Amino acid sequence: MSLSPDHDRLEFWEEQAQRLHWDTRWNQALDWSGAPFARWFTGGRLNVAYNCVDRHVEAGHGDQVAFHWEGEPGDTRTITYAELRSEVCKTANALLSLGLRAGDRVAIQLPMIPEAVFAMLACARLGLPHSVVFGGFSPAALRSRIEDAGARLLITSDGQYRRGKAEPMKALTDEATGYTPSIEHVLVVRRTGADVPWTEGRDLWWHHLVDTQSAAHRPEAFDAEHPLFVLYTSGTTGKPKGILHTTGGYLTQAAYTHRAVFGLDPDSDIYWCTADIGWITGHSYIVYGPLANRTTSVMYEGTPNTPHEGRHFEIIERYGVSVYYTAPTLIRTFMKWGEDIPARYDLSSIGVLGSVGEPINPEAWRWYRRHIGGDRAPVVDTWWQTETGAVMIAPLPGRPDAKPGSARTPLPGISAKVVDDQGREVGKGESGYLVLDQPWPSMLRGVWGDDDRYRETYWSRFPAQGYYFAGDGARYDEDGDIWLLGRIDDVMNVSGHRISTAEVESALVSHPTVAEAAVVGASDTTTGQAIVAFVILRGGATAREADAGRVVAALREHVAQEIGPIAKPRRILTVPELPKTRSGKIMRRLLRDVAENREVGDVTTLADASVMDLINAGLVRET
Ligand code: PRX
Repeated sequence: MSLSPDHDRLEFWEEQAQRLHWDTRWNQALDWSGAPFARWFTGGRLNVAYNCVDRHVEAGHGDQVAFHWEGEPGDTRTITYAELRSEVCKTANALLSLGLRAGDRVAIQLPMIPEAVFAMLACARLGLPHSVVFGGFSPAALRSRIEDAGARLLITSDGQYRRGKAEPMKALTDEATGYTPSIEHVLVVRRTGADVPWTEGRDLWWHHLVDTQSAAHRPEAFDAEHPLFVLYTSGTTGKPKGILHTTGGYLTQAAYTHRAVFGLDPDSDIYWCTADIGWITGHSYIVYGPLANRTTSVMYEGTPNTPHEGRHFEIIERYGVSVYYTAPTLIRTFMKWGEDIPARYDLSSIGVLGSVGEPINPEAWRWYRRHIGGDRAPVVDTWWQTETGAVMIAPLPGRPDAKPGSARTPLPGISAKVVDDQGREVGKGESGYLVLDQPWPSMLRGVWGDDDRYRETYWSRFPAQGYYFAGDGARYDEDGDIWLLGRIDDVMNVSGHRISTAEVESALVSHPTVAEAAVVGASDTTTGQAIVAFVILRGGATAREADAGRVVAALREHVAQEIGPIAKPRRILTVPELPKTRSGKIMRRLLRDVAENREVGDVTTLADASVMDLINAGLVRET
């Protein structure tokens, strides 16, 4: 008797789940009766930290290196699995001593230092969902994330190294924690040695609290659906969404994909994912996937051109990196710096190259393969999202017929389709919307505290079919392989970072001089997209009258303060009006034409067609 495809899929995931250690085996692979809220491996119990650390030590791999860590100033640390276990246990004991109990939330804003990994794993060990906030996010962004999750503890550091300079961190997080009464303690790692403001009774040094703890801690098993973490990401509104991931399904798919996509061999590979732990790529492919697979990883703290543009290649050479996973924006930056830079280093250890975060253009793909991969290493383009938790679409290595720029096909166990706006699958050579038509183990379990937003954002587009709507455009080629075409909603992708137009607009209008703002993502050859803002100043002043340079600089700074430097608009144009339809909707398409210096398209649906002339005239005057 042949099995139905769904049965095969569930059986496939049950096999993958067996890579993990379960204290109690599950009784059902998937409970989809509460769709779109999935429950995977129901009844199963496991501990994520035990799976990522202890079991490898118990199996005799305690001396294997878990991380070759390299600080930006050049300091290094080597952490074996045995050392990782003792650091994670000490951190867990420290968190227990603060009275934290399973279910309590912990916010983490740290640079790329080993303590970030210890902190995440200690939370996982105790069943404390963590909310990691990217180190470049502003105090305002940190504050709203702490408030939304109701975190009891913040883990941060005195400062961080960025581009060769020690920058403050604790002084900034204090600006957030001054307004977040849910935070009872702030645990501070000493990294730069800078003086920091201190609140007695609330603030604690990591080296006082953690280093003095016992290195023994018995992990407790949690339900497969126990929340593992919340990670905030931009949607189409001004308020970031807390994407919720849970335990058993997430770890199963993170571990499976990491091993399968990179063909990873834990006994011989040296793996390096260049993401920051503040993003989902850092969660799934620096921490959980690689450690569940007993990988030896490189972890680097700083920027790729500090102190010189060969820094990444020097690190690849030094550690013999065999799997290198990065983002197209960095590849295009390397291209700009020149191929003579990687040519100075021995990159012959490279066996597989990965790409993530945005569509990789064929030129970048070819350059990557030739100049980093020595024309030997396959390039695997991996499509996924914060919401999917792990890779969904990627060519498995070993497929000889490489296609520069295509993520190819859904991985085994995954089902994706390209459909038209009625939800009908499009044909070969046609484009449409990317949807996921079957649940998958590492899928988000909701938006923290907002079930309606979860249903509305992801499941309301194709209710009849019950498809998950990814927000990306895609195309089938003549072979039926998938090519990703970028976001089709108001989410921008700047250097692989997701930023919503609405978020930047609401930051701009919160400045006293701004009456109205519209933001678009304009194509950019290095960063994928660049943020361009059109603002109407209060009182109808134009930038010329109000001193253009000063106003624009103040607004850029304001956005950096509200969200973070990554959200600073590349260009801000002051305009007398914005192009709107009769129902008052801003026509971003026309603004995008202006931002990309194109002839402005069809204006017939504008309430007032002369607006575009006004905008264009203003631009001519400004230049
Ligand atoms: O538009 C897609 C793009 O990044 C979005 C997800 O962003 P985020 O949740 O921040 O996660 C990024 C890292 C997984 C997607 O909706 N994206 C990601 N990977 C690719 C991609 N677009 C094209 N090709 C990719 N390989």
